[in-house]
Amino acid sequence: MLVLILFSLVSSTSHASLLSNACPKCGNLDVPYPLSTRETCGLSNYKVYCKNGSLEFLSAEGLYYQILSINQLENRLIISPPLIQKRTCRSSDLSLGGLRIDDNSPFNISSRNTVMLFNCSDDILLSPLNCSVTSPCRLFEGKVEEGKGCRNTLCCSYLKDSSMNSHRIRIRVGGCSAYTSVVDLKSSTVDDWLFGIELQWLPPTETLLRLGV
Ligand SMILES: *[C@@H]1O[C@H](CO)[C@@H](O)[C@H](O)[C@H]1NC(C)=O
Ligand SMILES: *[C@@H]1O[C@H](CO)[C@@H](O)[C@H](O)[C@H]1NC(C)=O
Ligand SMILES: *[C@@H]1O[C@H](CO)[C@@H](O)[C@H](O)[C@H]1NC(C)=O
Ligand SMILES: *[C@@H]1O[C@H](CO)[C@@H](O)[C@H](O)[C@H]1NC(C)=O
Repeated sequence: MLVLILFSLVSSTSHASLLSNACPKCGNLDVPYPLSTRETCGLSNYKVYCKNGSLEFLSAEGLYYQILSINQLENRLIISPPLIQKRTCRSSDLSLGGLRIDDNSPFNISSRNTVMLFNCSDDILLSPLNCSVTSPCRLFEGKVEEGKGCRNTLCCSYLKDSSMNSHRIRIRVGGCSAYTSVVDLKSSTVDDWLFGIELQWLPPTETLLRLGV
């Protein structure tokens, strides 16, 4: 009974908040509830950062990734993969081990990302990743300016599905040193690819229930 009352309280307040408590725009992007750029709007565990007109997501390692788009209805957003530094095959978050999201965060990495890893050591061939000559990572190396530094390195790709850790994309010196990601990869034409890492968030009522409120 108590649970039921709490549940209806929580859901009615969050619906009210949808209308009243969204944060102001950041640059060109709407910041829908429950995302929060400041204490007075959104919910504090959905924190994102508005820096000079650019909306950013903060990783558990303390690096900011630009938010490119937000789909409020599906609770998803897309962040920019880190840059691969010119004439190298190193992602800018290599020293931090790639992207990591806190285990307790309401955000995780969705299962629609095809992750491509570059400059990998031979050990990777023991894994089930797709490292064949037909792997889409070959197209990135060959056809995208940013990927040129990774040409002729061992590269592999995989779909970040539910069998994978949904809170990190790992790279390291001596393993694979660069990566990129494409959302909902269907085409073998690089120009059609949507580069990004799609994250999804647990809606607030579910978060509260999961935490046993
Ligand atoms: C803020 O953005 C403007 C326009 O994009 C740019 O010219 C300026 O250098 C940026 N300032 C900082 C501190 O990043
Ligand atoms: C690797 O990916 C390509 C393109 O998606 C696919 O045609 C091929 O069958 C895959 N190979 C393996 C070993 O999974
Ligand atoms: C490939 O990775 C190694 C470390 O694992 C690094 O020393 C080397 O610079 C990388 N190659 C390129 C082209 O960046
Ligand atoms: C990621 O989050 C979504 C909801 O936000 C959830 O449905 C899904 O189970 C989570 N995935 C994993 C692997 O934890």
